[in-house]
Amino acid sequence: MERPAWAPRSIDISSPSVSRIYDYYLGGSHNFEVDREAARKAMEFMPGLPKIMQANRAFMRRAVRYAAGEGIDQFLDIGSGIPTFGNVHEIAQSARPGARVVYVDHDPVAVAHSQAVLRENEDADVVAADLLKPQEILGSHQVQRLIDLKRPVALLLVAILHFVEDADDPYRAVAELRDALAPGSMLVVTHASFEGIPLPREQAEGTVDVYKDIRNPLIMRTRDEIARFFEGYDMVEPGLVPMPDWRPDTAPEDEDPYSFSGFGGVGRTA
Ligand SMILES: C[S@@+](CC[C@H](N)C(=O)[O-])C[C@H]1O[C@@H](n2cnc3c(N)ncnc32)[C@H](O)[C@@H]1O
Repeated sequence: MERPAWAPRSIDISSPSVSRIYDYYLGGSHNFEVDREAARKAMEFMPGLPKIMQANRAFMRRAVRYAAGEGIDQFLDIGSGIPTFGNVHEIAQSARPGARVVYVDHDPVAVAHSQAVLRENEDADVVAADLLKPQEILGSHQVQRLIDLKRPVALLLVAILHFVEDADDPYRAVAELRDALAPGSMLVVTHASFEGIPLPREQAEGTVDVYKDIRNPLIMRTRDEIARFFEGYDMVEPGLVPMPDWRPDTAPEDEDPYSFSGFGGVGRTA
């Protein structure tokens, strides 16, 4: 298979990646046939998967606009993915010119493409790092240059925590990040769950199996398990809810039934 110019040399283009599969669901062009094949297999069980991803992106944009409206001008987006339509820096910087944004991802394609998109943007940058190593993220020169940890930050963990198994203790990483951020910081989370999926659970499990097969298991947590990520935060109204129900711009009843799968929420420290 020929390697396109945007694909870093270090990547394995013979096995699927979570970020490239997600790019495909969203209609992007930074994916390979192996990614599309996995995505199509997952969609055989849940044909509405792209609707969930669109609801996820729409939630994220509303949450960033909300944070900016509440005076936050620094954003740390971990598991930021391959840039696509309506990225965090575009939303944040149009709501608050000069807002600082640091993206973090462990996927080389996501990092390389973010670097390309941000080349001319002095107030945004990207770090290649793992959520499970918060000190590497916080100590990176990009965070040191752009984020003032003495002032509130919006920490985005959008559609990433469901790729971290309990054995790797995502709760510890989230708590460590919370403790490093100034009072008044926000946590923005979306997370997959069997709750809300408009299908029999056995059918949805077919999709989960596809991610197991590519050795990137999708961890479907319950609402209560997802709520535990917000320990130490006060929930912003309306709390942890199906994504279209969180401060909607348009009538949630007009949304596709698939968009109500999983949860989104925002918390703020006192
Ligand atoms: C489904 S995408 C979400 C992208 C974006 N946040 C959004 O919601 O549109 C999940 C991203 O998390 C990244 N990711 C998964 N586990 C990670 C980890 N432990 N550390 C850093 N990034 C991770 C993947 O590489 C992928 O780009």
